[in-house]
Amino acid sequence: MPPTAPASQLVVGSAAWRTGLSVLTGTRLTLRELRREDAPSRFALLTTDEVARFITPPPTTVEGFERFITWARQRRSEGCCACFAVVPHVTDTAVGLFQIHLAADGHTAEWGFALGSPYWGTGLFVDGARLVVDFAFATLGLRRLEARAVVENERGNGALRKIGAVKEGVLRQAFDREGEVFDQTLWTILRDDWAHASVALTGGRVH
Ligand SMILES: CC(C)(COP(=O)(O)OP(=O)(O)OC[C@H]1O[C@@H](n2cnc3c(N)ncnc32)[C@H](O)[C@@H]1OP(=O)(O)O)[C@@H](O)C(=O)NCCC(=O)NCCS
Repeated sequence: MPPTAPASQLVVGSAAWRTGLSVLTGTRLTLRELRREDAPSRFALLTTDEVARFITPPPTTVEGFERFITWARQRRSEGCCACFAVVPHVTDTAVGLFQIHLAADGHTAEWGFALGSPYWGTGLFVDGARLVVDFAFATLGLRRLEARAVVENERGNGALRKIGAVKEGVLRQAFDREGEVFDQTLWTILRDDWAHASVALTGGRVH
């Protein structure tokens, strides 16, 4: 992750998002700000071995998720982070998240995402990713969006490739997950490329 931005140093696009994230509506889902009441469903869906295998270990309790949500909202108000809950149209429950962490330069950010495994291969990822990348460039005013995926994480890498991210290289031994060290692939999307890439995404494949 790029150096986290001190709130006072950030100068990005419109600052209105710092007072609260707008609801973003896609074909299959709604993205909205995380709420404290999302903690139980996020705990149930995002702490399974298959979801958590290649990502920073999630909190181990519902209370830990509640603290994360409080922290994320605080960081949003400081202009450093935007965390969206994924709510499919077919349910009221949050089943995943997309998060964007801004770097100190105000032009670059790292994003990450996770969905409960029952929702993999349903088209939710592409639908949400399009909204989040649009938000990053149009609302946050970013120039470059980075993502890191453990090399062995085939779904994570496949998802990034599918939405048009460019593989810039391999970061050797960049990720330590509880003592197990992994190489990561660095994927980027530039604002300049996004308009072209998003055209190819209009029909995100559903398995
Ligand atoms: C990453 C994640 C959000 C993607 O959502 P998803 O619904 O699984 O993604 P999709 O099914 O739309 O796309 C994944 C792509 O990887 C491909 N893929 C899956 N398994 C694969 C494999 N073994 N080898 C190569 N590609 C593979 C899929 O085929 C798919 O592409 P396709 O639709 O063109 O076939 C979800 O898998 C997840 O939450 N994973 C756990 C958390 C995580 O790893 N986050 C990413 C950190 S970078």
